[in-house]
Amino acid sequence: MPAQSMEQLVSLCKRRGFIFQTNEIYGGLQGVYDYGPLGVELKENLKKSWWTAMVYSRDDVEGLDASILTNKKVLRYSGHEDTFTDPLVDCKDCKNRMRADHLKDSKCLHCGSTKLTEPRPFNLMFKTNIGPVADDESYAYLRPETAQQIFTNFKNVVDSTSKSIPFGIAQIGKAFRNEITPRNFIFRVREFEQMELEFFVKKGEDEDWHKYWIEERLNWWAEQGVEKDKIEILNVPQEELSHYSKATIDLMYEFPHGLEELEGIANRTDFDLGSHSKNQEDLDITASILENKDSNARLAVQDIDSKKWEVPYVIEPSAGVDRGVLAILNESYKDETLENGKNRVVLALKPHLSPIKAAVIPIKKNDSTIVEFSKKIKKDLQKLGLGRIVLENTGNIGKSYRKHDEIGTPICITIDFDTLEDRTVTVRDRDTMGQKRVKIESLDGLIKNLLVK
Ligand code: GAP
Repeated sequence: MPAQSMEQLVSLCKRRGFIFQTNEIYGGLQGVYDYGPLGVELKENLKKSWWTAMVYSRDDVEGLDASILTNKKVLRYSGHEDTFTDPLVDCKDCKNRMRADHLKDSKCLHCGSTKLTEPRPFNLMFKTNIGPVADDESYAYLRPETAQQIFTNFKNVVDSTSKSIPFGIAQIGKAFRNEITPRNFIFRVREFEQMELEFFVKKGEDEDWHKYWIEERLNWWAEQGVEKDKIEILNVPQEELSHYSKATIDLMYEFPHGLEELEGIANRTDFDLGSHSKNQEDLDITASILENKDSNARLAVQDIDSKKWEVPYVIEPSAGVDRGVLAILNESYKDETLENGKNRVVLALKPHLSPIKAAVIPIKKNDSTIVEFSKKIKKDLQKLGLGRIVLENTGNIGKSYRKHDEIGTPICITIDFDTLEDRTVTVRDRDTMGQKRVKIESLDGLIKNLLVK
């Protein structure tokens, strides 16, 4: 059973060093969080798993790491300047601001008043000034999605890799949105990370590819510990589709605060490449786009048979890293009552996501022979390059086991006096709490088996 409440997760994250409120010593900054020593490992492992599945395991996807600062023209032609808004209302009584679509019974969420202003569009993009002169024209945006930088690099990637459609460009990175009401821990924040794939296909083959990617993404989430039956598929109604979308499927997950979007998989048609193209009139663009006299590139591919230039359609699986971390923490959190009546909290993370892969524990804190031997084992296991291995020298085995259960370490390796004699160690399994005696030489294989399934 997942965590019972968001508070349990927030408390674990703070106590054990997964996630902290940013700038807490100055009262924080609303909607912004920092990942601590364990959080950074968990987040990196999740991103690595996505990159492996989306790029390394395939030959039809290339990677990209583009800039966050974005030319305003990109976000003009992408439609974000005009339409990337949420409806904002003010409460005339308590003066709080909130999203009109978050209201319950048309009442203020803070004081219950019904005296609210008419909703007006509020653009979510962060602007910043570029260069030493802060005039009206010298601004750029912090990207609100990583996707646009993929579209503007389309020609660079095609020219440098000779890829032909169907193929994709994958990117992981920060995105920024000035959310009116950031809330629910790391679920809705102003600075977050996205894992986005823009997969370019031939018009007419788009709907089949859309179905394909929905299935791929469900399988990937299951491998991260969010099983298919934990995800509800929402076919976004026509009237709620983003301006670029012909069809969007949202993967909805039951977060501690409710059923909400974990990932969106959109059919963006030829909207984006068409919008950013020069000589649009020569291309059969189906989407409704702004006329573009600023772009110097044709973002199209030539059909081998007809030799006609065609703007590919785009299928976009777009997942939030932070929402992924939250879902995975929630799924893996277990508060168990043991046979002896005691409680233990366990994070039953998939081992490839665990921040620490193994803890090496000397049985005696102050015995230099045992401690040195343990350090050597840690060092050797670390060299495998399979993730972080720690030396846990507290002198209290029970306490060390409890700590590593709670942070999701799949195995603990205890070094005792027999180890010095027969080169065997005790390996304790997080999930079963079972212990077995194994040779030091078999630890490499044991850890590899845990991680490479
Ligand atoms: N490029 C398409 C796009 O950005 P989106 O549905 O607005 O689509 C994609 O965002 C994903 O990014 C969402 O499914 C969610 O996981 C994540 N996301 C969006 N806004 C977020 C926010 N304010 N805080 C955390 N994650 C967010």
